[in-house]
Amino acid sequence: MQSQKRARPFLYISMWLLVILITCVVLTAAWASDDQPAEYETLRGQLEEAYKSGNYETALEIAEEMNTLVETRHYETLYDIACLYSLLGNKVKAYEYLQKAVDAGFWNHRQMRQDKDFENLWEEPRFKKLLRGAWSKGYIAMLEREERDEFQKPEEVMKALELKPGERVADIGAGSGYFTIRVAKAVEPAGKVWATDISDEMLDYIEKRLQSEQLENVELVKVSRDDPQLPASGVDMILMVDTYHYIQELTEYAKKLRAGLAPGGRLVVIDFIPKPWEERPWGPPPQQHLSKETLSADLAKAGFKPAKEYDFLPKQFFIVYGVE
Ligand SMILES: C[S@@+](CC[C@H](N)C(=O)[O-])C[C@H]1O[C@@H](n2cnc3c(N)ncnc32)[C@H](O)[C@@H]1O
Repeated sequence: MQSQKRARPFLYISMWLLVILITCVVLTAAWASDDQPAEYETLRGQLEEAYKSGNYETALEIAEEMNTLVETRHYETLYDIACLYSLLGNKVKAYEYLQKAVDAGFWNHRQMRQDKDFENLWEEPRFKKLLRGAWSKGYIAMLEREERDEFQKPEEVMKALELKPGERVADIGAGSGYFTIRVAKAVEPAGKVWATDISDEMLDYIEKRLQSEQLENVELVKVSRDDPQLPASGVDMILMVDTYHYIQELTEYAKKLRAGLAPGGRLVVIDFIPKPWEERPWGPPPQQHLSKETLSADLAKAGFKPAKEYDFLPKQFFIVYGVE
């Protein structure tokens, strides 16, 4: 008992020392992490000076130093390095860093296309491919943004589609696979989905998602703008979400859709309700607006008639068409 009493002051002192030690470690870490952005910002200032005065060699050295400062390879710096290599005429390195910038998340294809630093690369196929890569990064992020679920209500849409295992579905203009994945799960294991798109980048992205979700019932199809390339009378449902407004020859396209539909099949179109650009400065531009009246009138020419219409989506119309 006595020895326990004597040990207590020693225990308190040890505890206090430990608290002081932990506080010192935390503060040191905080100071260290604060140092890094300050140094980074100083270097950014120097980089801009060197760039403005046309001293590209120095600017490049600074940009590379900045790059080593940030742990995650910051895409803006990678982009800057690509610009500088391009200005110095080193195309190999310019492409290497542009690729790194795109891989790290750089998405501003407009900036890239208009940036005079890349003037010498503008016409090259490799540059155009990188532009498409940057565009697809931004487009996928837009389709998959969290706020989309609030108005897109994917779970309610899936419920309304009333899909059954074993059904065959064409998701035309599948994009990032926002609905493809959900539909594939609803019809598996025997059911099949054709995810079609005009963009290789979108299909490549869906392919990666299918691998990570371990889904094997989706076939990816690169289609042309005017042909959905459906198997004759081979699908139970055609789903087109935010894609019909891209179609130009409406009547001809509708006939091709009809030819792909199996007996008793349905065509589901969800698309943006036309709104003045001032009211909704995103989504399809005014020249692509498609009202449900125009769509239904056109689809009627190919034998489609509305079977059900849902009004729970605040920004889009949602119509299920059957065949007469
Ligand atoms: C706005 S996104 C919608 C993607 C997806 N349906 C969704 O809801 O997330 C439209 C997609 O349709 C594709 N697209 C545009 N025109 C097309 C056409 N004629 N045939 C097939 N896909 C098309 C685009 O490449 C894009 O991926």
